[in-house]
Amino acid sequence: MTVDLLDRLKEAKTPLSGTVLAVVMGVSRAAVHKRIEKLRLAGHRIAGTNRVGYRWAGSLDRLDPHLLKRGWLKQVIHYRVLGSTQDEAKSRAVAGGPEGTLVLADRQTQGRGRMGRRWISPNGGLWYSLILRPSVQPVWAPALTLVAALDWVEVLRARGVPAGVKWPNDVWAEGKKLGGILTEMSSETDRVHWICLGVGVNVNNRPPVGTVVPAASVLAWTGVLSRETLLNEWGTRFARSYARFNRSGFSPFRLAYERRSILTGARVSFNDLSGRREGRVLGVNAEGQLRLAVARGEILCSSGEVSLLRPAEGKKRS
Ligand code: BTN
Repeated sequence: MTVDLLDRLKEAKTPLSGTVLAVVMGVSRAAVHKRIEKLRLAGHRIAGTNRVGYRWAGSLDRLDPHLLKRGWLKQVIHYRVLGSTQDEAKSRAVAGGPEGTLVLADRQTQGRGRMGRRWISPNGGLWYSLILRPSVQPVWAPALTLVAALDWVEVLRARGVPAGVKWPNDVWAEGKKLGGILTEMSSETDRVHWICLGVGVNVNNRPPVGTVVPAASVLAWTGVLSRETLLNEWGTRFARSYARFNRSGFSPFRLAYERRSILTGARVSFNDLSGRREGRVLGVNAEGQLRLAVARGEILCSSGEVSLLRPAEGKKRS
């Protein structure tokens, strides 16, 4: 009921009186009042009184892990400050932590990004790592992160953010990076032990400056959003996608990924251990590798860094 009440308050355009809330929720006014106090104690800023009406003063978006929908999660471990959720999740995974363990931090002091980069993680963003133990062959596993990024793109687009995915698993909008995923995995030849899916999204925080690529926060398009709500939306989607991925791999997501990719048809440069190449992005294959048309035909890129040189003809920048 606390979740329900919070959602109603967050969505309401005008203050809601205790009487109205009691009627729509089918409880007594005293029960509404008690819940309001509980939400306030949990750090939500709720202005007003029973008589004049309550209003969610959402500028302080304090994460309340108790309000996360538990269906898709086995356990949520929440820290106000942590070095890196990824390091914490990894040690838990190594120690046998169950699939569906979510490590979440309001702020990270040692956040890590791909390519050994630093990931700036102040209050207001979403920084979390999820332990997964997929039942696919290790070669298929990396594509799971493309699916996780695609789900973030869909969640943000549903809220009017013109987001797109940038291979392999970045979330971009209008030429700026909103978030990214760092995936680490332990496996043997034919079995995945665990995957830690480390996700960082700039939501209500000021975007970092001086980063390798320009960054932005979701806030710029939507105003302050509830991070719990966003995470619940992503989690609900991802739980479905994960089940599908375990059954059928990346193939069922391939077309949707290409449709949402900001690189499809674009001219790019690609850097990996074997050097720098230029080409035109044809799409992705069923393993999630990037297909690049180069002078001598087609190459497949598995891991590395892609930079956009020229967007696809007639494609709007996302
Ligand atoms: C990227 O470089 O695009 C990936 C960034 C991943 C950052 C997230 S924030 C939560 C988790 N903990 C970390 O230290 N990194 C990941």
